Amino acid sequence: MRIGVLTGGGDCPGLNAVIRSVVRTADHRYGSEVIGFRDGWRGLLEDRTMPLDVGRVDGLLTRGGTVLGSARVAPELLRDGLERMRAVLAAHEVDVLVPIGGEGTLTAAHVLSEAGVPVVGVPKTIDNDIDCTDLTFGFDTAVSIATEMIDRLHTTAESHQRVLLVEVMGRHAGWIALHAGLAAGAHVTLVPEQPFDVDEVCRLVSARFARGASHVIGVVAEGATPRPGTMSIRDGGVDEFGHRRFTGVAQQLGEELEKRTGKEVRTTVLGHVQRGGTPTSFDRVLATRFGLHAAVAAHEGRFGEMVALRGTDIELVPLATAVARLKTVTASRLAETESFTG
Ligand code: F6P
Repeated sequence: MRIGVLTGGGDCPGLNAVIRSVVRTADHRYGSEVIGFRDGWRGLLEDRTMPLDVGRVDGLLTRGGTVLGSARVAPELLRDGLERMRAVLAAHEVDVLVPIGGEGTLTAAHVLSEAGVPVVGVPKTIDNDIDCTDLTFGFDTAVSIATEMIDRLHTTAESHQRVLLVEVMGRHAGWIALHAGLAAGAHVTLVPEQPFDVDEVCRLVSARFARGASHVIGVVAEGATPRPGTMSIRDGGVDEFGHRRFTGVAQQLGEELEKRTGKEVRTTVLGHVQRGGTPTSFDRVLATRFGLHAAVAAHEGRFGEMVALRGTDIELVPLATAVARLKTVTASRLAETESFTG
C-alpha cells in the first residue's frame, strides 16, 4: 500500500510526530510506503511531493512545525480541483490519503471522501475545537506556553499593582483561555462562548484592589466579544477563507478598563509563540498514537473516518460527524471558573 500524507491549516506542535508515526507504522507493520504532499492541499493540487521513509523521519518526534509545510486553501479552489487531485493521487499510486488538519482541512477531507477518495483524517489544532475527540494535539503545548507566560506576568503585575491582560489564541473557542486561566490562577477569564460585560469586569478589578489585592491578571481569548450595548470593539471583517479577523480585543478592553477604573493596565498578546517550538510530552504521545492508528485504519480500509481520543483510547469516528459542528466551551466548564474569578 502507498499512503499520502499532508498537513493543512495553521501549523501546530506535534504535526511532525504524526508524520513520523505514520511512516514508521506503515513501514514496520505493513512494509508500506508513504509519500508527503507539500504545503497542504496546495501540494496535492500542484503535484509537489516529498518522499518519506524511516530515515527521513528520524528526529521528527520533538521538532515543532511541519517538514511538509502547511497552507490554507480557499474551499472553492478545492472544489474546482477535485479531478486534478484525483489525477495526482493516481499518478503517485496513492491508495489512501491521510490529511492532518483542523476544521478546514478535515472539512475538505470529508468532501474528498464523499467524492470517493479514500481518506483517513487526523485532527490537529491548538484551539482544541474539533468535535468528537476529547483533545487535539498542540492544545496541551499551547496551554503550557500560555501558562508559563502568565506565571511570569503575575510577578511584574504585583510589583507595579497593575492590571495585566493576556490575549491568547483559540479563534471561536475559549479552550486555551479557560485552561491557561485555571492553570495560571487568572482572576478574570473571558471566552468567546460568553460575551463579557465591561461593567462587570470593572467591578471585579475594583473589588480586588479594594480588598488589598496587589494585582489583577485577566486572560482574554482573541475571539471574546463584549455583550451588545456594553462596549464596542473594532470590526475586522473576514479574510479570504471566511475567518473573522480579530482586532485585539484585550488592548481595546484594557483602554476601557483604565478609563473606567483609573488603574494602570498593560496588555500582552501571546500570538504565534503559542504554536511554536517542541511539543509537550503529552502532545508527543497523542500525536504518535494518532499517527499509528491512522496508519492502521488506512490498512484496514476505514475510509471517511478520523482518529479521535475518547477517554484514554484512540477510536475512529465518521468525518461527517466530526466536522458537523465546532466543539466549544460548555456552560458547565465555564461555571467551574466562578470560584476563581475576582
Ligand atoms: O487555528 C489555529 C490558530 O492559531 C488560531 O488560534 C488563530 O486565530 C489562527 O490560527 C491564526 O492564524 P494565522 O497563523 O493564519 O495568523
